[in-house]
Amino acid sequence: MPKFHLSLTVNGEARELLIDPRRTLLDVLRDELDLRGAHRGCDSGDCGACTVLLDGKPITSCMILAADCDGSTVTTVEGITPAGGLHPVQKALVEKGGIQCGFCTPGMVMAAIGLLNENPNPTEHDVREGLAGNLCRCTGYKKIVEAVLSVEESKA
Ligand code: FES
Ligand code: FES
Repeated sequence: MPKFHLSLTVNGEARELLIDPRRTLLDVLRDELDLRGAHRGCDSGDCGACTVLLDGKPITSCMILAADCDGSTVTTVEGITPAGGLHPVQKALVEKGGIQCGFCTPGMVMAAIGLLNENPNPTEHDVREGLAGNLCRCTGYKKIVEAVLSVEESKA
């Protein structure tokens, strides 16, 4: 099969790759770019562990062909984590106890950032709705929701 020439901006850096056109964005991020923060849970759009921002909007990267992202900007959890520190959403999850095994966490963080970019003052209902596509087997969600709500409160 002929290779596809893919141009992406990933975490602020221009990337050019020759890929199998059948590969998903998640495949390319993990296997070609060595960005393993987006996790492969279900690989079928159900768990949200692979959530990244595509042109600023949260998407499940296992459900989109990388070729369909040509020319786009992708942000993964590696791209929002400052060197030697944490993004405010990550910090809030740690402080509020919204992390246990951590498998869902990168996807949860990216979904929450997407939500807060769109709606800086969400209600609890907004947060629950915004994170509805992200499954967590450990925390029971309450502490995750509290953490996301606390991010903007802490800036007030
Ligand atoms: S791995 Fe993509 S939604 Fe589960
Ligand atoms: S912390 Fe374990 S799946 Fe969410």
